[in-house]
Amino acid sequence: MNAYINQAVESFRTLITEQLERQERIAAGAEVKDYTKMEKIVIGVCGGDGIGPIITREGERVLRSLLKEEVEAGRIEIRTIEGLTLEKRMEVGKAIPDDTLAALKACDVILKGPTTTPHGGNMESANVTMRRELDLYANVRPVNVPDQGIDWIFYRENSEGEYVLGSRGVEIPGKLAMDFKVTTDAGTRRIARAAFEYAKNNGKTNVAIVTKANIMKKTDGNFSKICHEIAEEYPGITAEDWYIDIMTANLVNEAIRSRFQVFLLPNLYGDIITDEAAQIQGGVGTAGSANVGDRYAMFEAIHGSAPRLIEQGLGEYANPSSIFKAAAMLLRHIARTEAAEKLEKALLICTESERKVIATGSAEDAKCAEFADYVMETIAKL
Ligand code: IPM
Ligand code: MG
Repeated sequence: MNAYINQAVESFRTLITEQLERQERIAAGAEVKDYTKMEKIVIGVCGGDGIGPIITREGERVLRSLLKEEVEAGRIEIRTIEGLTLEKRMEVGKAIPDDTLAALKACDVILKGPTTTPHGGNMESANVTMRRELDLYANVRPVNVPDQGIDWIFYRENSEGEYVLGSRGVEIPGKLAMDFKVTTDAGTRRIARAAFEYAKNNGKTNVAIVTKANIMKKTDGNFSKICHEIAEEYPGITAEDWYIDIMTANLVNEAIRSRFQVFLLPNLYGDIITDEAAQIQGGVGTAGSANVGDRYAMFEAIHGSAPRLIEQGLGEYANPSSIFKAAAMLLRHIARTEAAEKLEKALLICTESERKVIATGSAEDAKCAEFADYVMETIAKL
């Protein structure tokens, strides 16, 4: 037993040292890219697993058509990134193979299909690895249901919390298991600033800080405290504390939910509640997600790789709406606002007002590619 304890204490020392170093790197800051001034932007596209390559292929087709002129002029390059598949990851025993990671780092922004994460074991999720390696600290997820007055945006901390050491817990077999949750001051400050900047620039007046600070006193306690310190720099925007449990209920409380605007939360709560929010909008297949850092940004569907759809031979019927929303967010991020608006408008027409073609994952409805054709035809008519 003592050997286990000694080993755990030793590895805890390493963890604290590493996390302190990470906090130093965050505090040092990084230069933020200005896409309006760049001569060339490289968009990497990686398909992932399951339905990933199917929906991402259509996402790429839409991007190519919207950015045709700039691609032809060499101002934008759309590059395929290979090797982010489960088979390749298992083969090399890494969540992201080295050459794939190098290829990703040579891009500015990335459109990514979902990747499968093996349960248990030590293999980290490719998603989590990418977020860490590219330091994508803000996970931004908008949810809109216009006819119910819902216009939400979630700012989920994306680089720490329960995720950062999720594969490095300790275990005394047959007795206990422990995982760690980490909140750094600098890490909280940057996500809080991102949320309040968004609020300020988009005329929002309320930010809900969602934690469980009554129980997770150190990590969530600090998160909330630091968010309030940042809030003081934003007069005219109120910052309210909420606990995650009641906020989960509030999202399905039709009497009050439309008053919420911007949500600011630590990683795991953000993960859970954004699936709930996406469901209110029509399902996880309908929501896009931006993973934003200072140097890189990655845009993805919020759903998984849907292995069941593949097993049933229905992969080609997957709904690409989520990756299309992600593509629109990518366009907005690189300051291609007009192209982003076109795609967003077309998506609204195709999924809300007209619905002439729908893709639902069922063979009775349209194929992924047919729905993509419909979106592109709609864009052409705008
Ligand atoms: C998400 C996903 C990921 C997460 C998984 C795939 C690692 O659920 O983007 O919300 O837990 O963050
Ligand atoms: Mg999730």
